[in-house]
Amino acid sequence: MDRRTFIHQAALAGIAAQLPCSANADTPHSQFNRNSTAEQVTAGLNLAGKTAVVTGCNSGIGFETMRVLALRGAHVIGTARTLDKGKEACGKISGKTTPVVLELTDFDSVVACANTIRNMNVSIDMLILNAGIILDDWQQVNGIEKQFVVNHLGHFILTQRLLDRVISAEQGRVVVVGSGNHRDAPQGGIQFNDLSGRNWYRRGYAHSKLANGLYSLELSQRLSKTRATSNCLSPGPVDTNIRRDLPASATPANLKSPAQGAATVCYVAAHPTLKQVNGEYFSDCNPAPQSAHQTDRAMSAKLWQVSTELTRHHLT
Ligand SMILES: NC(=O)c1ccc[n+]([C@@H]2O[C@H](COP(=O)([O-])OP(=O)(O)OC[C@H]3O[C@@H](n4cnc5c(N)ncnc54)[C@H](OP(=O)(O)O)[C@@H]3O)[C@@H](O)[C@H]2O)c1
Repeated sequence: MDRRTFIHQAALAGIAAQLPCSANADTPHSQFNRNSTAEQVTAGLNLAGKTAVVTGCNSGIGFETMRVLALRGAHVIGTARTLDKGKEACGKISGKTTPVVLELTDFDSVVACANTIRNMNVSIDMLILNAGIILDDWQQVNGIEKQFVVNHLGHFILTQRLLDRVISAEQGRVVVVGSGNHRDAPQGGIQFNDLSGRNWYRRGYAHSKLANGLYSLELSQRLSKTRATSNCLSPGPVDTNIRRDLPASATPANLKSPAQGAATVCYVAAHPTLKQVNGEYFSDCNPAPQSAHQTDRAMSAKLWQVSTELTRHHLT
């Protein structure tokens, strides 16, 4: 191939990576929409006897998710960065909740959190990876861009250490809270050759959310011979604390309320029609298109391998 043809084909490949991929035609659609709330999408469900883990339970989408799953009868293990924050959040709602400390930048804390949950000796019906940050500047944890660490790597360790408990549930679900923003990830997708973030930190949030989607995809493949599933979702733009460190101009108009933002999370975590749905991506309680990067099996497999290497001292 001559140089010109190569550049042309490479450019086309780059464009193709940004094109949306449609949802699987077999995935059930719902009558719910952007305005549906978490209470509406779980109306009539009895989650008594079920156990959910919700990371980041003290704020925004995580708090509302915990509140509504507990309202429907589930025991919700809610994680927060301090026990005081977790206790305060759990104390505000009715139903069965248990606060546990989880600081995702500190992998020892992630291991301790997983061990605390394991010691409860329960199967996990819903493992909801919700906690997350958006940064406006370049920050690192041990040389790795911080949003990748918090939003992806910490959750990777937590899930790996709890996965047998999800698999042992009647129909365990891993629910990864991603974002439509995954489409704005740096060109080429996950920056395996330089995870420091130095050259792409301005797209670091989108990069971490792409990692969420790819992790869910790879996990879904690995769960395919079990009863358990893994799906990813975008809650849409929601009025929460997540933009607290960003300039006001970075806040989109027409935000959802947390009650609306938690709807897709609760729908994917608990709705019976999704029992056999695995490896899908949802928005507004329906299957949704995603970027070609987020459906790239080679990239998801590599992310798994690299994440395993980066966290190997905390996986077993
Ligand atoms: N809001 C949106 O518009 C939007 C859009 C798309 C996707 N999402 C996703 O939705 C999820 C929930 O976000 P939200 O909007 O509800 O934001 P939020 O109100 O800021 O809640 C984020 C939660 O994550 C926790 N958290 C932050 N850093 C952590 C760390 N290092 N270790 C452990 N927990 C940590 C927070 O704890 P503290 O309160 O102690 O900081 C809080 O409980 C995130 O994954 C986000 O990417 C949100």
